[in-house]
Amino acid sequence: MMKLNREVFDEIKKQCLEELKTAHTLEKINEVRTKYLGKKGKLKKLISDISILQIEERRSIGEIYNRVIGELEEEIQKKIQSVKLEKIESYQFNKLELTLPAVKFSVGKKHPLQQVYDEIKEIFVSLGFDIEEGPEIEFEDYNFTMLNIPFDHPARDMQDTLYLSLPETDKGRLLLRTHTSPVQIRVMLNKKPPIKAIMPGRVYRHESIDVSHLFNFHQVEGLMVDKNVSLPHLKGVLIYFVKSMFGEDIEFRFRQSYFPFTEPSLEMDIQCLVCRGKGCNLCKNSGFLEVLGCGMVHPQVLQNVGIDYEEYSGFAFGLGIERIAMLKFRIDDIRLFYENDIRFITQF
Ligand code: PHE
Repeated sequence: MMKLNREVFDEIKKQCLEELKTAHTLEKINEVRTKYLGKKGKLKKLISDISILQIEERRSIGEIYNRVIGELEEEIQKKIQSVKLEKIESYQFNKLELTLPAVKFSVGKKHPLQQVYDEIKEIFVSLGFDIEEGPEIEFEDYNFTMLNIPFDHPARDMQDTLYLSLPETDKGRLLLRTHTSPVQIRVMLNKKPPIKAIMPGRVYRHESIDVSHLFNFHQVEGLMVDKNVSLPHLKGVLIYFVKSMFGEDIEFRFRQSYFPFTEPSLEMDIQCLVCRGKGCNLCKNSGFLEVLGCGMVHPQVLQNVGIDYEEYSGFAFGLGIERIAMLKFRIDDIRLFYENDIRFITQF
């Protein structure tokens, strides 16, 4: 039997603590414990022959043995606790890593033009208007002739209108519609009065692009045809529209104008949203901004589509969605709507 003394126990304790240091899992810690404190562990082995010692020596060795066992047990428990804690902490840490950049959720959003169109639609639908649509490729007759736009009208000029290089039809040349008014013709050809509809859609013009012009943009046409439809009906509907769109207090005015397909023709202005009538760059010092064109459907147009103008009358109006959106959101460059810059679109 080897000589038993304090140094021998301390040496084993040192070894055990050393191994404990590198044990980072509960399994490893248990292995260390079995190796030193187990039934066949190093410490048990040391005292297996203790019975041959003298009683005095036996007592002092026994004391050392128990103390070392106690101390090591304490260290092992501490280690177990710290490993458990680490495990919990790492778990929480993985779940909530505060130093990571936040995950970006991109929520879809309606394009400002869609928002404005939806709003326009809602206002007119609430007044009982239906929604009608027509094609973007249109007959010359529907886009111009039947709307009482004569052959020599400047709007027909190659500079304004995009004609398609396709064979001429029995309804004239094919073109990209320059306004939504031809949908009026289509609706009136297909339906008998009473007619009450709005007609949204994309229109095309041969324009050079700048802050207020694009070669395609959107319009909403309005049409109501029935017995005894008169100018006050038109004004009432449009006043309701601008108040719903721009607020109850918005000031407005109607100006005399000219469109070949309406008689009389008017344009509606609202008070400048920037200077409130005082005069600024936006309203070119007039205090007003033009919002739409309108008028009473020309008797010739009604006759062209086979509606008896003695019995029926109608009003029509046309507005630009981009223009309304620019006024509403104070956007000063029409091109921004089509650049699809997410920084622009998400502002509205
Ligand atoms: N079509 C006309 C335009 O594009 C607008 C309008 C529509 C005017 C209906 C009067 C009536 O300018």
